[in-house]
Amino acid sequence: MIIGIETSCDDTSVALVDMTGAVLFHRIHSQENLHESFGGVVPEVASRAHVDVLPSLVREAFSVSRTRPGQLAGVAVTRGPGLLGSLLTGMAYAKGLAAPLKLPLIGVDHIGAHLRACVESADEIRGKAIGLVISGGHTHLFRIDKWPELILLSQTVDDAAGEAFDKGAKILGLSYPGGPSIQKEALRNTLPLLPLTRKNIRTESPWDFSFSGLKTAFALLVQKVGITPLTRPQLAASLQQAIVSHVMDRMEKIVACESPEVLLVGGGVSANALLRSRLEELALACGMVLRLSPIPLARDNALMIARHGRELYLAGHYFPYPYKALFPYPRDLSDVRSRKTPRPS
Ligand code: KG4
Ligand code: ZN
Repeated sequence: MIIGIETSCDDTSVALVDMTGAVLFHRIHSQENLHESFGGVVPEVASRAHVDVLPSLVREAFSVSRTRPGQLAGVAVTRGPGLLGSLLTGMAYAKGLAAPLKLPLIGVDHIGAHLRACVESADEIRGKAIGLVISGGHTHLFRIDKWPELILLSQTVDDAAGEAFDKGAKILGLSYPGGPSIQKEALRNTLPLLPLTRKNIRTESPWDFSFSGLKTAFALLVQKVGITPLTRPQLAASLQQAIVSHVMDRMEKIVACESPEVLLVGGGVSANALLRSRLEELALACGMVLRLSPIPLARDNALMIARHGRELYLAGHYFPYPYKALFPYPRDLSDVRSRKTPRPS
């Protein structure tokens, strides 16, 4: 078996898969209630909560699946990117679990794992593929010529898309995390959508994303319109529309330029229903295969770490015991992926 441990941000998650990839256990312990009053993740609170929860979650994994640590072939753990304290917590625990059993330690790239969550089998990532990871921490677009190597094509120059949802929700007095609250509120809208005007978006490449101007434009719009039971859904729907339109503008450009055969979209924001339907329309129009992350696996989870970790282990990408000093991403990750940043001409 491979155990997967995910603690890169505010979810503590553990999964067990057997060597065929079958799931023996998977649980996500959310810290949402701890961060709710702050309207965003507080790193120190997140790290301490991982320390509290992880040992009991791992014990639960073995007892529920009726397995023992002695049956493990390796320990897969998120190595980054993420909050440093949160990553260190998971990595320290993973080393503590692996070392007495002299097990291989598998450092898993969180972004690659989000893309891996989009498919049942990694074999589906073939031909010309593009991957979008869109979450509270990332809005990153990759070309994938040879899985699991990711070639960075573009990214956000400021906030991530999920942050724009979270900040918008905070302005409207909606609960954290903001994405699901904005989506729910937007469904109640009966009024026309309001335009969110922002100054020219200054990005280095036409594929880069930018959300901070949108956030400012939204704050100004809210000031102008005011929050009432009638305008709150209208404002939520207008923000959702603006965020999704910006993402789709970039996706249409990249698809026109790269003509991918497969498009993978993962990360928490990929659960958004409007974004999913717009991506489906694009895929249909361009004749490409769209692989959206199943909604339960769009958010941070350890199953994606265990599955990706198992495949990395089988391909020989792991640290054998005794481990040399191991650091969180971005240090020393050349063994699992390469990053280049080509620009459109
Ligand atoms: O992948 P994830 O769990 O954690 C990070 O790696 O960031 O993503 C969390 C983000 C939050 O910003 C949350 O508001 C957003 O995903 N999110 C959504 C939806 N569900 C979660 N955004 C828009 N629509 C949703 N339905
Ligand atoms: Zn994530």
